[in-house]
Amino acid sequence: MAANIIDGKKIAESVRNEVKEAVAARIAAGLPAPALATVLVGENPASQVYVASKHKACAEVGIRSIGHVLPENASQQEVESLVKALNADPEVSGILVQLPLPKHLDEEAVLSAIDLHKDVDGFSPVNIGRLAQKGREPLFVPCTPAGCMLLIESAGMKLSGANAVVLGRSNIVGMPVALLLVKANATVTIVHSRTREIPEVCRQADILVAAIGQPEFVKADWVKPGAVVIDVGINRISDPTAKRGTRLVGDVDFKGVSKVASAITPVPGGVGPMTIALLMRNTLRAAQLADPQ
Ligand code: GUN
Repeated sequence: MAANIIDGKKIAESVRNEVKEAVAARIAAGLPAPALATVLVGENPASQVYVASKHKACAEVGIRSIGHVLPENASQQEVESLVKALNADPEVSGILVQLPLPKHLDEEAVLSAIDLHKDVDGFSPVNIGRLAQKGREPLFVPCTPAGCMLLIESAGMKLSGANAVVLGRSNIVGMPVALLLVKANATVTIVHSRTREIPEVCRQADILVAAIGQPEFVKADWVKPGAVVIDVGINRISDPTAKRGTRLVGDVDFKGVSKVASAITPVPGGVGPMTIALLMRNTLRAAQLADPQ
C-alpha cells in the first residue's frame, strides 16, 4: 500500500501561524516583539541562503531580526565578544550562530558562550546535556529534531515502546533526535559508519529517521512494512532529465520506500520547512522567558 505522504509544509505553516498569532497578542498587550540575532561567519553560500530564509520567516511572523556578519578570518575572540554583546542586549531575545563555523574557530566554545535563555538553537552543551538526562528539560529543543518529532506524531505513531532507528549521530540532528525519542519512551538504536548489518537493524524500526547525508541510502527492503520514515537528508544529485541538470533527493529512496512505509516525508517539503518554523517558536519562547514574571 502506498504510504501517507507527511506534509511538512502544511504542518510548518500551522506552527508559524501559531507563532504569528502569539506575537500579535504580545504586541497588543504592550510586550515587545521577539527579536532574533543571527551570526554568520564567512561566506559559505549554503549558510547565507539559510540565514536569509530565517530572516524572511521572522518578518512573516512579526519577529524582529538583526543579522551580524563577520569575515571568514574572524578570531575566536571577535566571535565570542559579539555573542557576549548579544547576551547583554535586552532587545535581543534569541541568538543563532549559523553552523558550520570556519575550521579555525572552536565551535563548542562559541556555543557555550550563548546565554542559555537565548539559545534558540538548543545547541549549548547545557541544553543538550539536559536533553540527555532523565527528569531534566532543556530550555530549548534543537529545531530540526523537534520538527522531526512533530512529523512523527502527525503520522499517529505511538512512540512509547516503539523501536526507533536513527541513521546518523550529528550534533545538529542525529544525536538530539535520538535523545528526544528516548525521552518519548521509544527504544532507540543509532546507526553510524561503524554499524554492522545496517539493513537488518533498519528492518527492526517502527520509526526510521535518516540523517546521514547520503543520497537515497535507505532502500525499500530495509524498511519494515508500516514503518514511519522521516527523511532529513537534502542531497543534490545529477539528473540529465531535470531542467537544471540536477535534483534534490533525501537519504531515503523515496520511490521504493513509499511503497512499504505507512507514512514518509518527501524531500523537499518534509523536514526542511519544519526547522525554521521551530526556530520561530523557540524565538517566541525566548521572548516569553525574558518577560517580567
Ligand atoms: N546548520 C545546519 N543546520 C543548522 C541549524 O539548525 N542551526 C544552525 N545554527 N546552524 C545550522
